[in-house]
Amino acid sequence: MAELTHASGLGPEAPGEVRKDAKVFRDAVSHPYRGSLLRVQGPQAPGGDPRGRAPWGHPRGSPGRSRGVRLAGRRGRWCYAAMSATAPTVVQVHVNPASMMADSFAPDRVRDAAGDLSGARLGFSRTPEALEAALPEAEVLLLTGQADLSDLRRRAPRLRWVSYTSAGVDWLIGAGLPEEVVLTNASGTHAPKAAEFALTAVLMLNAGIPRLATAGREGRWAPRGGGTVAGKTVLILGMGALGGAAAEALARQGLRVVGNSRSGRPHPAVAVMTRGEGFREHLPEADFLLITLPLTAETRGAVGRAELDRLPPRAGVINIGRGEVLDHAALAAKLEEGSLAGAVLDALPQEPLPPDSPLWAVPNLLITSHCGVYDPEAYGPRCLGAFFANLRRWRTGAALEQVVDRRAGY
Ligand SMILES: NC(=O)c1ccc[n+]([C@@H]2O[C@H](COP(=O)([O-])OP(=O)(O)OC[C@H]3O[C@@H](n4cnc5c(N)ncnc54)[C@H](OP(=O)(O)O)[C@@H]3O)[C@@H](O)[C@H]2O)c1
Repeated sequence: MAELTHASGLGPEAPGEVRKDAKVFRDAVSHPYRGSLLRVQGPQAPGGDPRGRAPWGHPRGSPGRSRGVRLAGRRGRWCYAAMSATAPTVVQVHVNPASMMADSFAPDRVRDAAGDLSGARLGFSRTPEALEAALPEAEVLLLTGQADLSDLRRRAPRLRWVSYTSAGVDWLIGAGLPEEVVLTNASGTHAPKAAEFALTAVLMLNAGIPRLATAGREGRWAPRGGGTVAGKTVLILGMGALGGAAAEALARQGLRVVGNSRSGRPHPAVAVMTRGEGFREHLPEADFLLITLPLTAETRGAVGRAELDRLPPRAGVINIGRGEVLDHAALAAKLEEGSLAGAVLDALPQEPLPPDSPLWAVPNLLITSHCGVYDPEAYGPRCLGAFFANLRRWRTGAALEQVVDRRAGY
């Protein structure tokens, strides 16, 4: 009740006029984005509309219309009132402490980022038990790391939006989110660091650093010079936030960029754009293959032995997307036999990569523990800034940004 401070669009008399003894059933929300309709049931009051008509049965601003809100219909009858824009949205902030990013989403940091957003009621949890206790009330879940999201219609009947603080949502696609729950991610938050890291990885491969690191571990002096990267070709698989930022940094460095995406949408930093399978014909000209793909049914195993065989022996491979996109056994074999120059892997098929993984011993391979594109200072504030901007959109009924296409899987 206390939350219905005014009924938007229902005339100036509406604020505060729902009777104290009326019941407001917030569980009746039906708007997919805002939950903007309240089901209201209340007793008849003096001067009320004897027919208990729903408020929009009357012209906007008319006494009947505001009275309809005030009275909420006759006893035992329902009507619907637009939810107040000042009703706080119940946001549950759940952080899995195992996540590398857990500290970035500590309660004080989230409150700082929320600023004067009085329209949000924030709750915080770090354990499965605390999350479970909060779910029945939660309308929005801001999630860091993984959590059990099964059976949410029963456990979280009011939930309408899950905002995930990472870009990769592959595990969430199979987590059983109800259809009416919108999923957003943090795609784009990594972009500035991803651009630098992609450039770093290309420069390292070009300078033979993984090869020199392997030689150093073996106590071998292994001098070999080489040219600069300008004029060389990088083939980027995945031209979204990561791939686009990388393309810009690499093009600025003088590389020729060949891009690939599902749509084939042009990008200003890309000399040749391809779509779908079209990247294969450009493999023989690639000095560097950069993978920035999400993991989906289509991309799983997209770079296998056949694709790696089409790369020239001078080529280096970089993966900052998802491990399962790349055939690691094939990559390891090619590096062992010297038919590829080197590789930098930030995303691995199993994370953390176990100590006994044969990948640790593969020559000319550098593994960067999935932290290459993570900026611990900037990531949290940037991600929370985007979330609260989205929350403001949510509360005004505007379209959200960073919405995941759950059918496409990213
Ligand atoms: N290493 C890390 O720490 C780190 C950090 C962030 C993200 N990631 C991973 O990187 C992935 C990409 O992140 P992002 O923010 O760049 O995602 P994004 O903005 O959604 O971009 C995804 C790109 O992949 C393309 N794509 C999707 N399916 C494809 C297919 N079957 N064939 C060709 N292209 C396809 C998309 O094509 P369209 O443009 O046509 O849609 C889009 O260009 C994430 O899903 C996550 O798994 C890793």
